[in-house]
Amino acid sequence: MTDRRTIDLDHHSQEYADSYHQVADELRGSGCPVAWSEHHGGFWVTPGHADVARVARDDDYFTQDHERREDGGGLGQGVQRPPGPVRTLPIESHSPFTQFIRQLCGPAFSPAGAKQFEPRFLEMVTECLDAVIETGRVDFSEDLAAITTVRATMELIGLPADRLPLYAKVSHESSYLAPGQPGFDEAMAGIGEIQSDVIGLVSERKKNPGEGGLIDRLLVGDVRGRQLSEDEVVGVLMSLILGGGDTTATLTLQTLRWLHHNPEHRARLLTDDAYFATATEEFLRVFTPNVQIFRVATQDTELSGQPVRRGESVMMWWAAANRDPAVFADPYEVRLDRREANRHLSFGNGTHRCLGQHIARMEFRTMVREVLRRMPDYQIDESAVDRYHTVKTIDGLMHLPAVFTPGSREGGRPAAAAAAAAAVA
Ligand code: HEM
Repeated sequence: MTDRRTIDLDHHSQEYADSYHQVADELRGSGCPVAWSEHHGGFWVTPGHADVARVARDDDYFTQDHERREDGGGLGQGVQRPPGPVRTLPIESHSPFTQFIRQLCGPAFSPAGAKQFEPRFLEMVTECLDAVIETGRVDFSEDLAAITTVRATMELIGLPADRLPLYAKVSHESSYLAPGQPGFDEAMAGIGEIQSDVIGLVSERKKNPGEGGLIDRLLVGDVRGRQLSEDEVVGVLMSLILGGGDTTATLTLQTLRWLHHNPEHRARLLTDDAYFATATEEFLRVFTPNVQIFRVATQDTELSGQPVRRGESVMMWWAAANRDPAVFADPYEVRLDRREANRHLSFGNGTHRCLGQHIARMEFRTMVREVLRRMPDYQIDESAVDRYHTVKTIDGLMHLPAVFTPGSREGGRPAAAAAAAAAVA
C-alpha cells in the first residue's frame, strides 16, 4: 500500500453527500488525482473525465459482472459497493450478453420509441398536475416526478396500474434511506413485494404469452443460442423499475429548483426546442443524478499513471468527471447553451450507456415544460426543500414544495394521481 495515496472517502456517508464536489476538486488539484479509499472493501477514486470515460468503456480491462461464487473467488462484484444482494441486468453483465439483452429490450428504448410514448406520458403528467392545479400548492417530488417516472416504466413493462402507490413509494424511498434509518426496512420489504409481483407476472407470461410486449420479447428472444431464464428476465425488469424512476425525477427536480432561482430562462425553454435540447445536456452535466458506479479491473492496468491491479475496484465518479475543467470551461457555471455539454458522462459511456436515456430526456422535457406552461409563476419554498442525506447512487431531493397561482384542470383523471401522491408523501 506504500505506493498509494489514500483518501478517507465513504460514498455512503453524509459528509460525502455534503462535500463530494469539493473533495473531487481537491483531489484534482493535488497533482496526484488517483487515490485509494479503504471503505467497503477498498476502491480507487479518480475524478478525471478521461479516466472515468475509459473505465466505463474499456470492457477488456474492467467488468461490472455480478458473480457469486461459493469460494468467494471471481472478479465480479456488480456496480455497487458493498455489492448488492441480487444481480441486476443488463447492468451487471458483460458483453456480448449485455448487448443481446439490450437488443431484446427493443424499440421502446430507441429515440423513435420514446417519441411514440410521449403523448401517453403527457397524459400521466396532466393527471398529476390536474390533481393540484386548483390548490396553488405542489410538491414537485411527491405530486409529480416520483410518480410519473415510475408509472411510465410500469406501463412499458405491462404492470398493473393499481400497484403504482407502492411502486412509486418504494422506488423513491429506497434511493435515499440507509440501513438503520426509519422506513428503511419497509422500503426493502417493498422491493421484495415488487419482486414477487414481477416474478408472478413473468411466470404467468411464460405459460400464457402476451402480444409481443417487453416481457414476451425477453422471454422468447434468443440470447446466444439460449433463452433468458425467468430469473434473468426478472433481473432486467427490476432494474428498469428501480433504475428509471429517481434518476429522471432527480434531473427534473434539480432543474425546477434551478429555474426558481434563475427565472429569466423559463420563457425561452418553453418555446425554443433547440435551446431546450442543449440545456437538457447542461442540466444533466451539472446535476449528474447518478453520482457514481463501480467496476473491477480484470487485468493489471493504470489510471493517470497510478498502477491498478487485477481484482481492485474503481469508482466511476460521473459527477466529478462532469466538472473536469479540462473538458468543461468554468465547470461550476450553468450555461444553457454550452456547446460541449453533451460530453457529460451522466448516462455513462460505452456498452452500458443508459438504455433509458431517450425515455429519460422525453420524460424530463414533458414534465418541465408542462410545469412552466401551467404554473408559470411557481416559487419554491426553499425552507422546506429536503435533500437526500446520503448519496448511495443518486443525489436527489425528497421534497420540493412550491406555490403558484391556481389554474384549471385540463382533463386528466386526478383521483389516480392523488392516490399515488398520498402514498409517496
Ligand atoms: C436522467 C435519468 C437517468 C440517468 C442519469 C441514468 C443513468 C444511468 C447510468 C450512469 C447508467 C450506466 C451505468 C454503468 O455504466 O454502469 C445507466 C444504465 C442504465 N439505465 Fe439509466 N439513467 C436514467 C434514466 C433511465 C431510465 C428512464 C431507464 C429505464 C426506463 C433507465 C434504465 C437503465 C438501464 C436498463 C441501464 C443499464 C444498461 C446496461 O447495462 O446496458 N435509465 N443509467
